[in-house]
Amino acid sequence: MEIRGFADGDRAALRELFVRAGADSPTESLWGHPESEAAVYLEPYLDLEPESLFVAESRGTLVGYLTGCVDSSAFPSESERMDQAIRRYRPMFRRRSAAFFARSLADVAGAAIRRAPMAGDFRGDRWPSHLHINVAPEARGIGAADRLMARWFERLTEAGSPGCHLQTLVENGRAVRFFERMGFTSHGPEPLVPGLRYRGARVHQRTMVRDT
Ligand SMILES: CC(C)(COP(=O)(O)OP(=O)(O)OC[C@H]1O[C@@H](n2cnc3c(N)ncnc32)[C@H](O)[C@@H]1OP(=O)(O)O)[C@@H](O)C(=O)NCCC(=O)NCCS
Repeated sequence: MEIRGFADGDRAALRELFVRAGADSPTESLWGHPESEAAVYLEPYLDLEPESLFVAESRGTLVGYLTGCVDSSAFPSESERMDQAIRRYRPMFRRRSAAFFARSLADVAGAAIRRAPMAGDFRGDRWPSHLHINVAPEARGIGAADRLMARWFERLTEAGSPGCHLQTLVENGRAVRFFERMGFTSHGPEPLVPGLRYRGARVHQRTMVRDT
């Protein structure tokens, strides 16, 4: 297993990995439209900060990746990326994604009535960096994720970042255990993520932070 920096020739393989790497986890499918999902969670990282992207390669096949951003204030926020992707692809009008967006509207309305908070962008200067990590099923539990994370921590040190945050789901037990083992701790409220369901149940955002 080799852990290395992203190269432009990895684009097509990374797009394929993006679609399958979340298998069996609560983020396996978000709204069911890979193009717009990649436009939010993959492509901006390839285009804007490829030096913060690391891949795990086994026998010539990409099996894991970590996308990072050193200074989130200089990067489009998740809401901005989501708005752009929605304007470009209109996934709510696609058959497979329509139910997600309908549920999303209902969740937002329900939360407004209960005055409950909704999942949203992280704010805070102490942990300006952020990351997303995805490892395909065949490369889990063998240290690929640890090694990707080690490369990311090296990058944060080199870049002089004081700390890193990430946003996962309370219901993603395996990911939460992994992040805790990597030194992250939970931070702040755990609001509902609109639209998303895992095994039929609502899911909640968990923010985690780590000082460099
Ligand atoms: C979250 C994710 C990156 C974690 O990676 P992982 O390889 O599954 O997790 P771990 O490294 O903690 O490995 C799981 C187990 O293997 C063990 N393990 C890790 N490296 C090992 C090694 N080199 N040798 C033996 N065992 C090892 C761990 O100790 C852990 O055991 P435990 O569950 O008994 O504590 C990965 O599961 C994943 O990509 N999941 C799908 C997408 C996802 O959820 N992404 C995060 C979204 S926020």
